[in-house]
Amino acid sequence: MKILLLGKDGQVGWELQRALAPLGELVSLGRAEADLEDHAKLAQTLAAQAPSVIVNAAAYTAVDKAESEPDKAARINAGAPAVLAEYARQHKAWLVHYSTDYVFDGSKSGPYVEHDATNPISVYGKTKRDGEAAIEQSGCRHLTFRTSWVFAARGGNFAKTMLRLAKERDSLNVVADQFGAPTSAELIADTTALCLHAALQAGKSGNELSGIYHLVAAGECTWHEYARFVIDRAAQLGVPLKASAEQVKPIPASQYPTPAKRPANSRMATTRLEQTFGLKMPPWQHHVTRLLDEICAS
Ligand SMILES: NC(=O)c1ccc[n+]([C@@H]2O[C@H](COP(=O)([O-])OP(=O)(O)OC[C@H]3O[C@@H](n4cnc5c(N)ncnc54)[C@H](OP(=O)(O)O)[C@@H]3O)[C@@H](O)[C@H]2O)c1
Repeated sequence: MKILLLGKDGQVGWELQRALAPLGELVSLGRAEADLEDHAKLAQTLAAQAPSVIVNAAAYTAVDKAESEPDKAARINAGAPAVLAEYARQHKAWLVHYSTDYVFDGSKSGPYVEHDATNPISVYGKTKRDGEAAIEQSGCRHLTFRTSWVFAARGGNFAKTMLRLAKERDSLNVVADQFGAPTSAELIADTTALCLHAALQAGKSGNELSGIYHLVAAGECTWHEYARFVIDRAAQLGVPLKASAEQVKPIPASQYPTPAKRPANSRMATTRLEQTFGLKMPPWQHHVTRLLDEICAS
């Protein structure tokens, strides 16, 4: 069985190279070999590779920049998934894809479930929702995982930014009225491999597993609590810092304006994922601690 991984160099893509390796013959491509903006060439690559499974970890993820590049973001986040879905439908292949909490507007008071109405409030969120919809409408077999606040040792992310800023500044102001779950690329990749394996092993009845799943770590926090946790752990590990956890001050999102609006509530329930695949998501602190142990030791 051949698995084609797209976006091999991103946070999630890098971890998928490890997690998918035992499942079959893995071909991993980056932007240089498979540009998601070039849809004709992408279709040719699919035909040439003839995979039974496509895992798409590539995406336009520059949330603020997307506000001024909506067409480019749409080509990558919505147009390309439509091409992948059409191949998967025609060839009865599985398509694994990733989406985001930003498909929601954040106005719900509790955690979002998969069938809650979407209402993106940013260009990025809209293009990601359009990508989800194109896959659903194609009728192909798919696992679309919505995740949030992704971090990894490799790549840029909030945790690494906070660590850098705490080394440079005496105090930090961090948003304390947006709630979500920091989710590790390792956890996303490992969970993907487990779910994909289950779907493949189930044969024809695996078709019933097709759909959207929320895949986030357990628990919740604000960006402010997340920053404090990161800085506290780094201090415990002996990293020389100018700002301590106490010097991370809470501010409302209104005091940190960004080009793209972000949902105040990014919480997503993982009940569907856990019950369908017999899994239990670990608390977000588990993998954030691992990240810090890894990057602070090097
Ligand atoms: N990061 C988050 O906080 C977050 C939150 C929720 C959902 N997600 C979703 O999770 C998935 C994985 O995200 P991630 O954090 O791993 O993202 P990432 O680290 O930004 O990686 C995205 C990858 O896509 C590649 N890419 C961008 N444009 C491309 C193009 N035109 N053709 C081919 N490849 C292209 C990038 O290549 P270059 O390195 O060359 O740019 C990069 O390797 C995405 O679907 C994302 O929307 C992410």
